[in-house]
Amino acid sequence: MASWTTANIPDQSRRVAVVTGANGGLGLEVARELARKGGHVVMAARDQAKVEAARASILSEIPDASLESQPLDLASLASVREAAARILADHPRIDILVNNAGLMAIPERRTEDGFEMQLGVNHLGHFALTAQLLPALLQSDGARVVSVTSTGRHAGRPIDPDNPSLSGHYDPWRAYGQSKLANVHFALELDRRFREADVPARSIVVHPGFSSTDLQARSVRETGGGRSQRFFHAVVRRFGMTPAQGALPLLRAATDPDAAGGALYTPRWVNWGPPVRRPMFRRTRNRDAMASLWGFSERETGLTFDVKPP
Ligand SMILES: NC(=O)c1ccc[n+]([C@@H]2O[C@H](COP(=O)([O-])OP(=O)(O)OC[C@H]3O[C@@H](n4cnc5c(N)ncnc54)[C@H](OP(=O)(O)O)[C@@H]3O)[C@@H](O)[C@H]2O)c1
Repeated sequence: MASWTTANIPDQSRRVAVVTGANGGLGLEVARELARKGGHVVMAARDQAKVEAARASILSEIPDASLESQPLDLASLASVREAAARILADHPRIDILVNNAGLMAIPERRTEDGFEMQLGVNHLGHFALTAQLLPALLQSDGARVVSVTSTGRHAGRPIDPDNPSLSGHYDPWRAYGQSKLANVHFALELDRRFREADVPARSIVVHPGFSSTDLQARSVRETGGGRSQRFFHAVVRRFGMTPAQGALPLLRAATDPDAAGGALYTPRWVNWGPPVRRPMFRRTRNRDAMASLWGFSERETGLTFDVKPP
């Protein structure tokens, strides 16, 4: 069968998409391709100068692209709440939510609310955003929520609710792995809830593969040139896919009419190649870990998911 490419993206006119971290890397490419197909894209991002440059880059190629930017700092539940309120005020219906933004292997740090930074940004901020955008997602006749994991999930352990921040034994890669395993458990549990409520929304998880973005460079900068971070940076610069290639699994999950809820999409050869559906290891489908993560996330964010038909 021919490889899935951006040519396979169906028309997106009249569809509304929210993409986190849309000011660079994979998020920018996802925003670009959804806009090219006529979708309205809400670029939810932290650094506003960077988002304006990202927007200009899309408009220079697609002058009639329908774009808006919304300030969003996933390291602050207050910022997530404000962003969600602004988005909901303008968009009573959202068709696509791509929870893409992320940080990798940075030193021990806390979010505004005191969460370990990678867990806070990669998982809890997206948990809170999704919970608050849920009413609009349920208005769509087939909403997609896309979560972005990594091969780092294989090194991650399910969150220990008694020590989610890994205090006393923090390790940048362990924290990344934990947050990326949480992305999988979140996506699968959300899809289970969608199916239980018999709503047409689908939650899908993707691994983008090894793509040369700012992810690795930032982890080098933030660790002051950490050794393993430098290694990955050098490898991705030399062998990584382009951001446009890395964005394909996200785009497939967001738009392929046949993409199944609860599925995992990755590059064909783990970190390289066109996006395909892949089976998941039993460990990543652990129901107890999903239930535990869900309860923990609800307690920490003070938010619940009310999944029911509109
Ligand atoms: N590239 C790869 O090889 C690879 C492999 C596996 C998984 N991934 C995953 O792919 C996703 C996208 O990463 P990327 O490769 O595109 O990296 P990137 O170029 O570094 O982009 C990351 C994005 O996340 C945003 N972000 C970081 N902290 C944020 C915060 N507190 N609030 C809001 N936005 C925040 C960044 O915005 P600012 O610049 O404004 O901070 C940026 O837009 C991540 O979830 C990553 O874990 C990437």
